[in-house]
Amino acid sequence: MGIKVAVAGAKGRMGTQVVRGVLEHKRMALVAGFDPRGVGEELAPGLKIASPAHMEEIFKAVTPDVFVDFTNAAAAVENIKIATRHKVKLVVGTTGFSAQQFAEIEDAVKGKVPALISPNFSIGVNVFWRLVAEAAQQLRAYQYHMEIIEMHHALKKDAPSGTAVKAAELIAQYTGVEGGGRPAFVYGRKGITGERTDAEIGIHAVRAGDIVGEHTVLYVGKGERLEIIHRAQSREAFAQGALKAIEWISMKERSGIYSMDDMMKELEQG
Ligand SMILES: NC(=O)c1ccc[n+]([C@@H]2O[C@H](COP(=O)([O-])OP(=O)(O)OC[C@H]3O[C@@H](n4cnc5c(N)ncnc54)[C@H](O)[C@@H]3O)[C@@H](O)[C@H]2O)c1
Repeated sequence: MGIKVAVAGAKGRMGTQVVRGVLEHKRMALVAGFDPRGVGEELAPGLKIASPAHMEEIFKAVTPDVFVDFTNAAAAVENIKIATRHKVKLVVGTTGFSAQQFAEIEDAVKGKVPALISPNFSIGVNVFWRLVAEAAQQLRAYQYHMEIIEMHHALKKDAPSGTAVKAAELIAQYTGVEGGGRPAFVYGRKGITGERTDAEIGIHAVRAGDIVGEHTVLYVGKGERLEIIHRAQSREAFAQGALKAIEWISMKERSGIYSMDDMMKELEQG
């Protein structure tokens, strides 16, 4: 039967792609799909979208190996608690967790299951993050100003994107603040903001039309600028990465939270 996969957010933009990918995958079987929208609609022959209210009993009946969540932050925290109670391994793509929500997830996962949690499953974005950190490190001695612009479709619910926040955190490690300490994240600018200081990283969110996802990091010095850009052309990039993550996490035994970078480093080493 292969890896038994359950998907939450099965009717959503990402969930639909993951469901399709799992159904087409030779070594995976879709055993459950949850969404409060479209309950009762057929996902595959003999498999209907189930209400998340029935997750506990369905987990007992179909014993998934891996639970995939692409929902929203509040829903994901509750779903993850149920999955960890049933010792189901996790792949979580949902973004927008508060520090408190992430702490709850860490607590639920600890000592229970391996979980791959990433705000972006695209392989390209994970290489983009490495390049972003590398450029920030190389430019740290030269006081370049670093800013991030992210663009997404009009329906995205959280801002800035989890991908942009991660890029900002990577840059922050290498951005000088006199006397130590972290630079401030400045979200957009408005009014009489005064001069920019060296101790800030600007983060700007564009929401328009059907943009799948675009991230630009600017490193601006005197008379020049370097830009590192990633453009997602379709959600296929995220879904393909999520499928790789399902396979990888299904083979992990040690509990704890893993990143896409952990997976990619292991795969790169062969
Ligand atoms: N990690 C990545 O690579 C990546 C890529 C794209 C989007 N995302 C994130 O994934 C999440 C979903 O994005 P989307 O564009 O598919 O959103 P969407 O709104 O299209 O889909 C979310 C779905 O979750 C459903 N849902 C709500 N509560 C639920 C629950 N308790 N159980 C099961 N399903 C529930 C909704 O009804 C909806 O169908 C967002 O947080 C987004 O930022 C992550």
